[in-house]
Amino acid sequence: MTSKSTIGVIGAGTMGSGIAQVAAAAGHPVRLLDTRPEAVDKALASLEKTLQRLVEKGTLKDDAARALRDRITPARVVEDLAGCDLVIEAIIEDLGVKKALFQKVEAAVPVDALLATNTSSLSVTAIAAACARPERFLCLHFFNPAPLLPLVEVVPGLATDMAHITAAADLMRAWGKTPVVCKDTPGFIVNRVARPFYGESIRIYEEGLADMPVIDEALRSAGGFRMGPFELMDLIGNDINFTVTRTVWEAFFYDPRYKPSFTQQRQVESGRLGRKTGRGYYTYADAAGVAKPTVEPAIAEQIVERVLAMLINEAADAVFWGVASAADIDLAMTKGVNYPKGLLAWADERGAAHWLQVLEALQHAYGEDRYRPSPLLRRAAEQGTSLYGRR
Ligand SMILES: NC(=O)c1ccc[n+]([C@@H]2O[C@H](COP(=O)([O-])OP(=O)(O)OC[C@H]3O[C@@H](n4cnc5c(N)ncnc54)[C@H](O)[C@@H]3O)[C@@H](O)[C@H]2O)c1
Repeated sequence: MTSKSTIGVIGAGTMGSGIAQVAAAAGHPVRLLDTRPEAVDKALASLEKTLQRLVEKGTLKDDAARALRDRITPARVVEDLAGCDLVIEAIIEDLGVKKALFQKVEAAVPVDALLATNTSSLSVTAIAAACARPERFLCLHFFNPAPLLPLVEVVPGLATDMAHITAAADLMRAWGKTPVVCKDTPGFIVNRVARPFYGESIRIYEEGLADMPVIDEALRSAGGFRMGPFELMDLIGNDINFTVTRTVWEAFFYDPRYKPSFTQQRQVESGRLGRKTGRGYYTYADAAGVAKPTVEPAIAEQIVERVLAMLINEAADAVFWGVASAADIDLAMTKGVNYPKGLLAWADERGAAHWLQVLEALQHAYGEDRYRPSPLLRRAAEQGTSLYGRR
């Protein structure tokens, strides 16, 4: 694969339009396809505006912007992708629809073209099963907004040829991205490891230990997170966040660690989806935004410790199950969701024994399997070893 290789992008929505921009910025000719041609027109018009802003800011030269824009051409039917060396799909999150699409794509492209899905929650292996040559199928999971967030999770299915994974990761590096290779397991790295940031914060609220603005402020001021969980859920959309939570929980065969909450379900049912509907956990009536409370340092510390213990446990467990290396998990959380530090390096600051003790106290207090410590956390605590240093 070279910068001259043609990239096909299917789905011109939020993700597909961003991915097309990234590929074109790296110099590739890009063919952009959507079942709704107006979606492609809209994506190109919006790209035009983005590029114009970059030119005005002086970050991009006028001729470079024009060249980038000209490298993306609309495709009207799947057969228009005939010359593509790599096709990245970013359509509706539906297994049946994705499988049907890839059967058509496979018939249209050369036998050595790579096929990739941008799925967030489906099994890569299950989509690949629709292909006659599943060995050339993989997942390239970009983050929103794709032009800005560097992380790409590169995920092989059961039948994927690992040489294609190496080539795809190299290509992502050439696009200026940070690839991390991970196993085909629910939520990959980020959507799995980040679950407690939302789930445990909601638990703290549901128990009446603290109000939402207090929890948000604690995680911002004492935790160093850019946004608190409730304001972040409002930004992502409570419908989207709830779907991810429920999908991960179901895909883990109802492991209580990922159990969704009534609090979030009721938000969705009431239509309080967040910023996009003007109301979520907060009301967005005026531009001033949400008032920030003052939080007692001791309370902030307690909140951060509980949420962080759950996050660290999740990250350690992902290492334990071989989802990815400790270094890649830390990279994923800092490059994909802007965490202030990698969770495993963060854990090492106080040592695994401290976090084990926090989890054991929670498990003792609640008697729930939700708080069970990962075997890796326990081992690191007992041996006094680093979590970040684990392979
Ligand atoms: N939005 C995110 O934050 C995010 C992040 C990472 C991955 N993803 C994944 O990316 C994919 C797309 O998500 P999105 O948010 O961009 O969705 P979107 O709704 O913004 O865009 C999807 C586009 O696909 C088109 N489409 C639907 N079926 C099609 C078909 N059969 N052939 C061609 N085009 C078709 C639709 O017309 C629409 O324009 C999903 O698999 C999603 O899980 C989303």
